[in-house]
Formats: sequence, structure tokens, C-alpha cells
Amino acid sequence: MSKKLKIGLFGFGVVGQGLYDIIRTKNLNIEIVKIAIKDPAKTRSLPAELFTTDRDELLNNPEINTIVELINDTEAAYHIVSTALKTGKNVVSSSKKMVALYLQELIDLQHEHGTSLLYEGAVCGSIPIIRNLEEYYDNELLHSISGIFNGSSNYILSKGYNDNIDYDSALKLAQDLGFAETDPTMDVGGFDAKFKLVIAATHAYGVIVKPEDVLNVGIQNLAARDLQYAREKKLKIKLVPVAKKLDEENVTMFVLPKFVHENEFLYNVDYEYNCVTVQAAFADQQFFYGKGAGGHPTGSAVLSDIAALRYDYQYEYKKAHNKRDLQFTNNIELNIYLRYEDESLVDALEFEHIHERFYSGDYKFVIGKINLQNLIDNQHRILNSKAFVAFADQLTGVSLATAAKQSAEVF
Ligand SMILES: NC(=O)c1ccc[n+]([C@@H]2O[C@H](COP(=O)([O-])OP(=O)(O)OC[C@H]3O[C@@H](n4cnc5c(N)ncnc54)[C@H](OP(=O)(O)O)[C@@H]3O)[C@@H](O)[C@H]2O)c1
Repeated sequence: MSKKLKIGLFGFGVVGQGLYDIIRTKNLNIEIVKIAIKDPAKTRSLPAELFTTDRDELLNNPEINTIVELINDTEAAYHIVSTALKTGKNVVSSSKKMVALYLQELIDLQHEHGTSLLYEGAVCGSIPIIRNLEEYYDNELLHSISGIFNGSSNYILSKGYNDNIDYDSALKLAQDLGFAETDPTMDVGGFDAKFKLVIAATHAYGVIVKPEDVLNVGIQNLAARDLQYAREKKLKIKLVPVAKKLDEENVTMFVLPKFVHENEFLYNVDYEYNCVTVQAAFADQQFFYGKGAGGHPTGSAVLSDIAALRYDYQYEYKKAHNKRDLQFTNNIELNIYLRYEDESLVDALEFEHIHERFYSGDYKFVIGKINLQNLIDNQHRILNSKAFVAFADQLTGVSLATAAKQSAEVF
């Protein structure tokens, strides 16, 4: 008989309520003892005595052995999670930004106090990728992980490509449907995808990288002419996070829009859906597809973590602890498409090889090879000058079919 979990739940928003809906339909050996929220004036669907605004009522309650943290405040989440881990309570969290920013500290706290923190719901909602990376895949066999990690930006890109809806209207639609926040920067700027990538890479390669060291270029500057160009080439544009082992010593990571060929799994992942592609040496390419957000899909991943705690499951961070010493690097060459207005941006990016240059009226682009570090150094300039950058392996191959094959093997 598994042990009874007595839960202190932080947050009763989209994910918290989704989790509650799932738990109450099942006969699980789980009890939600108390729920901490922020605003005492909000109407709740459960009895008032279940709620509190005092986090210590949960953290200091000896009856509660498990904290489930599902709030939307990064610093408060870190305080709650770290306090719980220090005081012997196991934790499940869905806060990707908090986990990505404080990963090393959270790993240290788990080791120091013998407690467990699980966060499957933080990375691509319902897709079970963290435990698979941690348990199923061997480090040496993994060439790369990539995919579509953010449903809001994928929704906007799909609306633009499939339905010819311009960026601002597609963003508004995504906001109306609840896919995108009022301030969409985290989603469309690639930050959300980057937080998830940093977490996934820790479990895939054992590298613990600060999010600020990883490039994220988003889709804010996407224009109709970029989509039109992709259509002419029979490609789509997707926002794609990539973690890639370069050799026995180096791993790279970045988040960039990418031209995607129909041979790639990502091509058919549209609207709010997420996917993860794992490229392994022997298993070859594997593909996980599902809902990356929403109360019930994310709640299901949170519940899976809660269930795992009943048999004392912990991430071992095996790859971070063994002595293989993989280093994170931004020193790699990438093929990119740059649509620009300001000519001096092309000079600043110091292309090492130019594959193609195009001018027609105010549509100017260059496709060529540059160093990832140069992109990072010019990240703000690119954003502010309304330039659009995309990873462009699919535009530089001898033929699209060859390029698709090479690209699948490389990223
Ligand atoms: N929404 C998704 O589909 C999704 C998917 C994966 C991961 N996540 C992550 O899951 C977390 C929760 O997301 P959500 O969409 O459920 O957020 P949400 O709907 O905005 O709800 C946030 C909840 O947190 C509570 N809260 C905020 N600050 C608090 C504090 N200091 N102490 C206690 N409670 C506090 C709020 O209280 P009030 O009710 O009083 O306002 C609310 O109940 C976020 O980190 C998010 O990034 C979300």
C-alpha cells in the first residue's frame, strides 16, 4: 500500500483547478489539506475554510507531507519550494521559470535534505519528457532534443501560415482564447521555450546552464513576407528550441525560429500543440506530441509526479553527477535567414559565408553562416530594428530533401 499523501496546494488558478478536477474524479490515496492563494476576495468553487493566504499554514503544518506549487509568482514560488525542501516536505512544481532560474540551488537542496522536487508539468504540459530523459535515455546516445515547446507562439505561427492572419490579429486571437498572456513577451520572445529547454537539457546532458546564457530569438518581428517566402519554398516557420551535443565535450542550446521541411515531425504540429523530438544514436528519431498547456493536460502531469512521490521517486540527476564534464558552448556556426532594414546590422553580424542575398523594394534578406555568439551580442539590435532571424539549414542544402535529411540528423 503506497503512503497517503497529504497535500498543501499553492495556487488555485488554471493548473491548480485542473489538478483538483482530476483528483476528485479518482479514488486516490491523496488528500488536499489546505490551499494557499493570493487574493482572499476572489470567489472560489470550494468551501472557504479550505483556503488561506498565509503560506506558513501549509509550510509549518506537520500533517502536510507534500507541497504542490502551482503559482504564477517566480520569487514567491522559489521561497515556497526551497522552504518546503528544507523542512522535509517533497514538492511538485509547474513553475518553469522558477525551476530554470534556480535549478542548481534546487538540486543542492534536494541532496542536502534528502527531499524530492518533481516538475514534469513545467516542461511541455502533458508530454512526459523529463522522466523519459532522466530514466530512459542514456546520455551518450542522445544527439539532440528539439521541438515546439510553446503553444502560444505556435498558435500565432499556424494562424499566420495556414489562415493568412497577420501577427497582431493572431496574437489577439490567442489572448482571447486564453493561450497567450496579456503581456505575451515570455511566449513570443522565446523565453518560455528557453526555460523549458534549460530544464530538459539538464536531464538530457547533465549541463546546468543559466537561462541568460542561452540565446532566445522570438517571433515578434515576423512579417507576412517571411511567411510568404517560407510558402514559396514549401517550408513552414516554427519557433524551435534546440539542445545539441556537438562532440564528447560540448553541448549547445538556443531558441530560434526555424524553417521546417515537411519531412520533419514538427511540420505537422500546429496551433497550440507542443512536441518534443529526441534524436538518439540507436533509437534514431523519436517524437512526443501533445498539449503543452491548459489546466487538465498540465494537471495530469502534476498528478503523475504526485503519484510518483508515493513511492519516493526522486530525480537522480545522474548525468550532472557523472564525470563526463560536458560543457555548454555558444561557439558554433549556424545557417540563418536574416530579413532586415538596417544594412549595418548585416555588417555587425559578421557573416562568415553568404549563401544568398536578395533585394526587392523594401524586402531584403541574407542567408548565410554566422557564429551563435554574434547573434547573442546583437540580440537587442535585431529585435529593435524589426529584423527577423530564423535558423535556415533548410534553405542552404543542395536540395530540400537532402537538406531535410541532414537537418534531421544534425538538429
Ligand atoms: N496555464 C498553463 O497551461 C500552464 C502550463 C504549464 C505550466 N504552467 C505554470 O504553472 C504555474 C501556474 O500557472 P496558472 O496558469 O495556473 O496560473 P494562474 O491561473 O494565473 O493562477 C495562479 C494562482 O497562483 C496564486 N498565487 C499567486 N501568487 C501567490 C502567492 N504568493 N501565494 C499563494 N498563491 C499565489 C493565485 O492566487 P489567486 O487565485 O488568489 O489569484 C492563483 O490561484 C505558473 O508557473 C505557470 O507558468 C502553467
